Amino acid sequence: MAKKTPIPDSGFFILNDRYVLLDDFLPGLQDRTVELDLGCGKGDFAVALASRFPDRVVLAADVMLGRLRKVVRKSMAGSEDGGLLDNLYFLRVEARHLLSIVLPDSCLDRLHILCPDPWPKFKHKGHRLLSSDFMAQICRVLKPGGIFHFSTDDVPYLNAASKNVETSGLFEPADPAALSDVSDIRTEFEMQWLAQGKSVTHRVWRSRKGEKES
Ligand SMILES: C[S@@+](CC[C@H](N)C(=O)[O-])C[C@H]1O[C@@H](n2cnc3c(N)ncnc32)[C@H](O)[C@@H]1O
Repeated sequence: MAKKTPIPDSGFFILNDRYVLLDDFLPGLQDRTVELDLGCGKGDFAVALASRFPDRVVLAADVMLGRLRKVVRKSMAGSEDGGLLDNLYFLRVEARHLLSIVLPDSCLDRLHILCPDPWPKFKHKGHRLLSSDFMAQICRVLKPGGIFHFSTDDVPYLNAASKNVETSGLFEPADPAALSDVSDIRTEFEMQWLAQGKSVTHRVWRSRKGEKES
């Protein structure tokens, strides 16, 4: 476990036991299993994943600093020595920025986007993360054969997102077993929807990057 550290108020950072410059951090990801919880909210998924698999690198990203502060506090409160998990890193960053500019190509084994804001009003459709132009960015940061995991309670969003993923030609449906090691982990929003009697659907796709065209 790493030592407690203050959290910066603004700017872009990777946080664990100290602030790490991204240029120093990213090369260390090579040869590691790396997972990203994008829009991690209060971080239940990222914290559970990092605790369960200490050999994996888990990136928890959210645009809201206040949410990340809560995740940091929660993970410290849950640890034996009050420190952060060594393999859990926090990024305060906008999702499109992270996937289009910040992360290098082919660095992630799995990307999880869980219960993102559905933006149900037609006029807000453009705010949805799972738009067609986001598919190429997801594919870019996944390793060949990497897994994209998406969940939502919102059926129109599920249908629109699935259509975008599948018509992109960049992914194929993956065996649900690709998530068997995390299928019991519920995020805060998923628990909320389930408590309200709603159902939450999980979809999993595999990147086709690296496949030879026939
Ligand atoms: C509905 S919450 C879901 C949180 C968590 N995944 C869960 O299932 O409990 C959506 C989260 O995504 C974050 N978010 C929304 N738009 C984002 C963006 N463009 N970039 C990064 N994070 C974003 C919000 O701050 C919020 O924490």
